[in-house]
Amino acid sequence: MTSATRYVARLTLQQEKHLGDLITRYNQQTKKSKQLSQTYRPVLADNKNLGEFNFLFKEMYYPIIAQRSLGAKIWDVDDNEYVDLMMGLGINLFGHNPPFIKEALTEQLDKGIQIGPQSELAGEVAELISELTGMERIAFSNTGTEAVMTAIRIARAVTGRNKIVIFSGSYHGHFDGTLVKAGTSEQNLDVSVQGAPISPGVLPNFVKDVLVLDYDNPQSLEIIKHYQQELAAVLVVPVQTSRPGLQPKAFLQQLRSLTLAANITLIFDEMVTGFRIHPGGAQAYFGVQADIATYGKIVGGGMPIGVIAGKAIYMDTIDGGIWNYGDNSYPQTNKTFFAGTFCKHPLAMAAARAVLKHLKAEGPSLQEQLNLRTSQFVASLSTYFQEEEVPIRMANFGSLFGPAALKNHASEGNTFTSSGIDLLRYQLLYRKVHLLGASGYLSTAHTVQNIDYVIEAVKESVSELRQGGFLTT
Ligand SMILES: Cc1ncc(COP(=O)(O)O)c(C=O)c1O
Repeated sequence: MTSATRYVARLTLQQEKHLGDLITRYNQQTKKSKQLSQTYRPVLADNKNLGEFNFLFKEMYYPIIAQRSLGAKIWDVDDNEYVDLMMGLGINLFGHNPPFIKEALTEQLDKGIQIGPQSELAGEVAELISELTGMERIAFSNTGTEAVMTAIRIARAVTGRNKIVIFSGSYHGHFDGTLVKAGTSEQNLDVSVQGAPISPGVLPNFVKDVLVLDYDNPQSLEIIKHYQQELAAVLVVPVQTSRPGLQPKAFLQQLRSLTLAANITLIFDEMVTGFRIHPGGAQAYFGVQADIATYGKIVGGGMPIGVIAGKAIYMDTIDGGIWNYGDNSYPQTNKTFFAGTFCKHPLAMAAARAVLKHLKAEGPSLQEQLNLRTSQFVASLSTYFQEEEVPIRMANFGSLFGPAALKNHASEGNTFTSSGIDLLRYQLLYRKVHLLGASGYLSTAHTVQNIDYVIEAVKESVSELRQGGFLTT
């Protein structure tokens, strides 16, 4: 018997009735999304953001299939209009389809998609990223996963060491070298920190040089000291999507001092925090300058992109370093391997340039205002949850918000499997609030009305869940 079927057996009659009613209404409202998912399941091997399969919610286990989007809204194939909180998994800082990005893309489409020759925009985009983040040199990939993979390769190439440290609860994409969870805890230090593959297909040999440590735990700094001669890099997501309430400035600063002293590359994975918390990302916010930072999401303006940015001593391994015409200079740095057919895709470059120029023109006040609006939204929800004794504590880091701490195993990515919260999500979807798991993002396109709509939907959902015997105190 699976855990899911055991849980079904434990539902009360009241809960079963609530769930049955919700399933009927939800299926009716999102008929085409369900139908299309079923029709194409035999041919479409799909892992679309649904979290773990759970028998309880099987009849609602399909993605909302989107048809169009604008600003803070998306419309599904059944023509339901949602206030979107998923916001492209953190991409759409300015809402869906903002005119300035659409114009840039249309202009580039008119010129064609030239892959092979250098993009005429690449240099300018690199310069803008360097200006906003303070990083010296920039390279482009197509996804965040590739950017992280490349940053690790560069760190190993420059230091000549093999091991890296990552922290439990961090997601770095789907490169085998970071698909690692903490190993089983034993007395022996070596065994307890040694990571293990998170899923079948990830070879133990691939992750044997990855140590998985506790985030914001002083003991982790001691372990890093212990291994310092062997460590190429410490890779850190400064504020984890699954724990937005954990913002450990002192720990990050200690990590910086320690890695500097030991010549260990400090890599900030700023895929979510980059350009969101501040134009200079989490580094500017926490006052910590990493050696390499990886970006993506927001900066691509909806196009696939990954950015590897860093000090010249690291980034020179991409092209051999800087040299000039008309003298004796030449690329002197030993290169590592880096490539990709679609890197610096003209559409990605055009969208990125539009995003970066917009961010530069608006200055930090764009983030400040949006972050404040998100904090107020989270405060309203928290007050309501507290008054109603709903066991959820909310937090935000800039425009990223979610429960302060989710159950988190590296193997589960950002999923949260508590039935009450899962049901709250379906209740919200039924009320046309579109979100992933329990976390979400606000954008500059979200109006006060949109936010009030979400808060009202949360209150109605909680009230209905309670009538159904869920989320009780
Ligand atoms: C912190 C972090 N790093 C890396 C990635 C992987 O990026 P991508 O999905 O573009 O490969 C993600 C994706 O969510 C992320 O949140």
